This record gives sequence, structure tokens and C-alpha cells, in this order.
Amino acid sequence: MFGRIAGRYDLLNHLLSGNVDKRWRRLVARTLQPSLAEGAHALDVACGTGDLSLALESAGRARVVGLDFCRPMLEIARSKAGEEARAIPFVEGDALRLPFADRSFEVVTIAFGLRNLSSVEGGLGELLRVLKPGGRAGILEFSSPVVPGFRALFEFYFTRVLPRIGGLVSGSRGAYEYLPNSVRKFPDQKRLAEMMRGAGFEEVGYRNLTGGIAALHTGRRPSDE
Ligand SMILES: C[S@@+](CC[C@H](N)C(=O)[O-])C[C@H]1O[C@@H](n2cnc3c(N)ncnc32)[C@H](O)[C@@H]1O
Repeated sequence: MFGRIAGRYDLLNHLLSGNVDKRWRRLVARTLQPSLAEGAHALDVACGTGDLSLALESAGRARVVGLDFCRPMLEIARSKAGEEARAIPFVEGDALRLPFADRSFEVVTIAFGLRNLSSVEGGLGELLRVLKPGGRAGILEFSSPVVPGFRALFEFYFTRVLPRIGGLVSGSRGAYEYLPNSVRKFPDQKRLAEMMRGAGFEEVGYRNLTGGIAALHTGRRPSDE
């Protein structure tokens, strides 16, 4: 599915969100900036076309790696990094079996990726496993709007308008019908925070973005293991 829409993915992200998606990713990078110092390593899981990987690289001096299992998405990520002469390795791999040793990264992120995994718990477990003790995770994902009137308006846009525009521009309406359906099944802010604690993260917190359309969850791997 992601291979089919890769060519139009960035355009549609920016169009359908009115460019708000760029702000959300920059916020992830700013939030994690204190952990992105020189010599640190950061992994952006389900990196897609690499926008968050690039934002992480701009925000600090860490060495950033992007990972995704969809080759057409990775090819776009590589060409974007290449245009900007930035040496980010974009690696093909599965988020549920990350090809990295335990305790490899100071920072791990996943943006709009966790919802797509066949096991959210499995994905959280892998993020935790590759983090160094004391390392930080940032999870950006669609969530549950918190303002009642706005929630109804957003629901209309998300389920009725977005699939039509997404279908017309990408040629794959199914992918843009899948989007609201997958968000509906995904845990809300509080539940995801509980799942992170259950997976072993500490200092778990979240911030609602744009009225809760999305949320940024953060957590830390305990350092005293
Ligand atoms: C909605 S896109 C998000 C891309 C990017 N992180 C962003 O912020 O735009 C979801 C990405 O997750 C990837 N993905 C889904 N399941 C995956 C898995 N099991 N392993 C690796 N990547 C996966 C897809 O290939 C796709 O590129």
C-alpha cells in the first residue's frame, strides 16, 4: 500500500494537513533535541520519505538512521537527503524485528508508523530494546481530538473529505480510507501512554497537537537496569 502511494505521499501529507504535519515533526525534533548531542545516535523507525529523520538531523548533531520496510518510500528519502547533501543512511528493515543490537541509540522515534504495525506492543518492545538505558523515545501518531465540536468536524473531514482527495491525487483511495479506519482502532492518548508504561518505558508523557488530532508521546528507557 505504501509503495503505491510513495510518489504522492509528501504532497498529500502537506495538502491534507495544510502543512501542519511539518510543524508536528519539527516539534518532535525540538522536544528530543537535548538528547541529540554530538556523538549520539538516533533511529527514526518507519521513516517513510524521511521528513522526521531530516528534522532530527537538523535539530542536533546526532547521527541519524532511518528505517522502513517499503523500498519506494526509502528511495524518496534517499533522494531528499542527497539533494541536501546530508549523509543519513536509510535502511530497509522491519520495525518488529529491528536489525540493530540492544542498547544502540540515545533516541528512537516513530511518526505515523506505530498504528500500522501488526502489533503495537511488539513495536514498543523493539523501540525499547534498541534504546540505550536513559535513552528517549518519541512517538508521533494520530490520536483522539479532545474538543467535542471540533472532534465532530474533524471526523467529517477525516472520513468523508480526506479519502476523496487522497484517492484522486494518489490514485489509491483504499490507502486514504485505511487511514481513518486505522486511527479509529488505534489506542487514544491515555491508553497509548499506559501501553508504553506496560512495555517498560518510564517518565511517559504526552502532548496533544492541534486539539488532539495528533499526539506526541515521549518516554525513557530506565537507566538503572
Ligand atoms: C504513514 S507512513 C509514515 C512515514 C513517516 N514516518 C512520516 O512521518 O511521514 C508509515 C510508514 O510505516 C512503514 N511501515 C509500516 N509497517 C512497517 C514495518 N513493519 N516495518 C517498517 N516500516 C513499516 C510504511 O512503509 C510507511 O513508510
